[in-house]
Amino acid sequence: MEKKNIIELKNITVSFDGEKVLDKLNLSIQDGAFVTFLGRSGCGKTTTLRVIAGFLQPDEGDVFFGDQRVNDVPPYKRPVNTIFQRYALFPHLNVFENIAFGLRVKGAKKEEIEGKVREMLKLVNLEGMEKRKVTNLSGGQQQRVAIARALINRPKVLLLDEPLSALDAKLRKDMQVELRRIQRETGITFIFVTHDQEEALSMSDVVVVMENGQIQQIGSPVDIYNEPKNAFVADFIGESNIIDGIMNRDDTVTFAGHTFVCVDEGFEHNEPVDVVIRPEDVDVVAPGEGMITGLITQATFKGDYYELIVEVKGFKWMVQTTDAYEEGQQIGIVLVPDSIHVMHKSEFSGLYGDYSTFSDEEDVVPPEEE
Ligand SMILES: Nc1ncnc2c1ncn2[C@@H]1O[C@H](COP(=O)(O)OP(=O)(O)O)[C@@H](O)[C@H]1O
Ligand SMILES: [Mg+2]
Repeated sequence: MEKKNIIELKNITVSFDGEKVLDKLNLSIQDGAFVTFLGRSGCGKTTTLRVIAGFLQPDEGDVFFGDQRVNDVPPYKRPVNTIFQRYALFPHLNVFENIAFGLRVKGAKKEEIEGKVREMLKLVNLEGMEKRKVTNLSGGQQQRVAIARALINRPKVLLLDEPLSALDAKLRKDMQVELRRIQRETGITFIFVTHDQEEALSMSDVVVVMENGQIQQIGSPVDIYNEPKNAFVADFIGESNIIDGIMNRDDTVTFAGHTFVCVDEGFEHNEPVDVVIRPEDVDVVAPGEGMITGLITQATFKGDYYELIVEVKGFKWMVQTTDAYEEGQQIGIVLVPDSIHVMHKSEFSGLYGDYSTFSDEEDVVPPEEE
């Protein structure tokens, strides 16, 4: 049975100071899904959440909850709650009262509040902590209180705007698992925002990749990784070599001076394309035995594999292999049809996918703007 859409965004456009921040956004979100908005800082993730929550009116376009157009419905009348990046708890209230807050505001009866807070404490694994001051809790425990507080009124949709970005790496991993569990147990639709592709892939049913105020791709984590739609998505999700090619006809593509058999279809005859090769999909063989040859310009031992930078006809590939190789060695490269992914050219062609300026440094994530 097909699940119904709980939220639909139709042609949503938002501008600030004459600049388009969201550009004709279209998105359907299925009831009960864990959906993640993934993209760099400034790409429009928070703005999209604000449109859904009703804090911001789009300049154009419609927001639907089920069959109801809600453009004119104020935030407090939408079945939505939000956990912000800074999920300030009420410092003067204990754990119980923080969680109970939303029910008290609604004027719920004492017994109802007791019962529902207990249920929430159990859900977020904070049983026995209800009397504690929130200011004495660890970061992870505070996060759990924030989740319980946001869920006690049983919203249909929970919006989570980079809620884990303030936590250290270990705690962040724990909370990823916890959020996923809580989402499954409650069946509430979660719309989660992150700029971290690993986080998005590991948590979500559906990933929405955003850039330049537009949705670049919507799909399952596996689809997004294996079948990126354009060079931006291929580069943003995991490591990718993105090479200029010509799609001769169905299942046949030429790049790096060789014609390969692939499994891609539906292109024009001799269409210029972007070809994606994941570093782990390259078979390294002896120089004479490959389809193409390359020169290793950098070899780094990574523990369970070697990461090679390999020059092939002036283009630098990243290759991962479990065999030991050294800088200066010639190698052969074999690509089986399944390890080749062909994409149409896009506005992102030529911007990404060459490793000539690659360094081993961690990507530096700029602090979020307010
Ligand atoms: N209230 C606002 N006034 C002016 N510009 C804004 C406002 N809110 C967001 N922006 C701009 O819109 C763009 C998208 O912002 P945002 O949705 O917060 O991005 P993200 O959450 O993906 O980092 C950014 O360039 C940001 O500076
Ligand atoms: Mg944001």
